[in-house]
Amino acid sequence: MINIGVIGYGYWGPNLVRNFQQCKSTSVKCVCDMHKSVLERVKATHPGVDGTVWTEELINRPDVDAVVIATPVSTHFDLALDALKAGKHVFLEKPMTQTVEQSERLLEEAEKRNLTLMVDHTFIYTGPVRKIHELVTGGDLGEILYYDSVRINLGLFQHDVDVLWDLAPHDLAIMQHVVPHKPVAVSATGMSHFDGEPENTAYMTIFFDGNCIGHIHANWMSPVKIRHTLVGGSKQMVVYNDLDPNETIKVYNKGVTINRNRESVREMLVSYRSGDVHIPQIERIEALAVEVAHFAESIENKTPPLTDGKAGLDVVRILEAATEAMGMQGRPVELT
Ligand SMILES: NC(=O)c1ccc[n+]([C@@H]2O[C@H](COP(=O)([O-])OP(=O)(O)OC[C@H]3O[C@@H](n4cnc5c(N)ncnc54)[C@H](O)[C@@H]3O)[C@@H](O)[C@H]2O)c1
Repeated sequence: MINIGVIGYGYWGPNLVRNFQQCKSTSVKCVCDMHKSVLERVKATHPGVDGTVWTEELINRPDVDAVVIATPVSTHFDLALDALKAGKHVFLEKPMTQTVEQSERLLEEAEKRNLTLMVDHTFIYTGPVRKIHELVTGGDLGEILYYDSVRINLGLFQHDVDVLWDLAPHDLAIMQHVVPHKPVAVSATGMSHFDGEPENTAYMTIFFDGNCIGHIHANWMSPVKIRHTLVGGSKQMVVYNDLDPNETIKVYNKGVTINRNRESVREMLVSYRSGDVHIPQIERIEALAVEVAHFAESIENKTPPLTDGKAGLDVVRILEAATEAMGMQGRPVELT
C-alpha cells in the first residue's frame, strides 16, 4: 500500500483525494491546506484522513510515501522540491512549474533520488484521447497535418498565470501525445482586458519539424463553453468534442488531394474525398482513476509514468516560449 499526502484541497484537490482513496494500491493519510476551514470539509468527507495547515508536517510524516500537489502553479516548484528532498514520490498538478529551469531542477532531483515524478496531464488518461492515440499510431489518419483546438469558457480567472498557462497545458499534453512530430517554434498573441491581470484571451501556434502545424485558442471571456479539437490527417480527420457524451469522437473519412498540371504549374486539380463518418466506442472510466492507478504502478514497478517529469517539462518549455512570443506581438520563438 502506498500512503499518500495531498497538499491543496480547493477545486481540484477533492477529486484527487477521492480517487487516491478509492484506488486499491493507495491510501490517503493526510491532507494539507493553508485554510483551516477547508480541513473541516476534509474531516466531514473523509473522517479517517488527518488534516494540517503545515506543508512541512505533511511532507515529513514517516508514514507518507508520496506527496500529491494540487496548489496554485506559483507554489509547485518549492513544494515539489521539498517533497523530493524528503525522499517522497511526487504527483504534481499541471502546469508542472513556472519556468523550464524549475522543471529541469525537479527532474534532476527525482532522478538523483530514484523517485517517481509524475505530472497530472489528466486528458492523456481519458477514453477519447486514448482512442485518438490509437487511431494515429494505427495509421488510420495517415500523415498528421494539423492539431487545432478551441478551449474557451467564462472564468475561472487565475491570478498567478495567464489563460495559456491555465488552459493550454491540456492541449499541449494531448498534442505531444498524439502528434508524431517535434515542435520547433512557437508563436502566441493575447490580451488582458483588465489592468494588472494576466492575459485572458490568447492564441498559440506551434510549428512542427514535419509538414504539420498546431493551433490553440484559449479564452476565459467566452459566453459559451467550447472544447473542440480537430486532428487532421492525410487519410481521415478526427473531431473531438469533449462536451458531447454520446459522440465525443467522430472520425471523418474526408480529405483533399491536389494534383498540379505538368504542363502549366498554375493549373491544379483539386479533388475532395467525402466518405463515411465513424463514431467509435469510447471507454467510460474516470481518467483520474486510471491515472492514480498508473502512478501507483509506476512507483511499485520503478518504471517511468506516461506523463513523467519530462512530459511536464516539454509542456512548460512551449508555454515559456509562448509567453516570450506574446511579449513580441507574436514573433515566433524557436524551441531549443
Ligand atoms: N488536471 C486538471 O484537469 C486540473 C483541473 C483544475 C485545476 N488543476 C490544477 O490544480 C492546481 C490547483 O488548482 P485549483 O483550481 O484546485 O486551485 P484552488 O485555488 O481552487 O485550490 C488550491 C488550494 O490550495 C491551497 N493552498 C495554496 N497554497 C498552499 C500552500 N502553500 N500550502 C497549503 N495549501 C495551499 C488553497 O488554500 C486552496 O484551497 C493548479 O495547478 C491547476 O492548474 C488541474
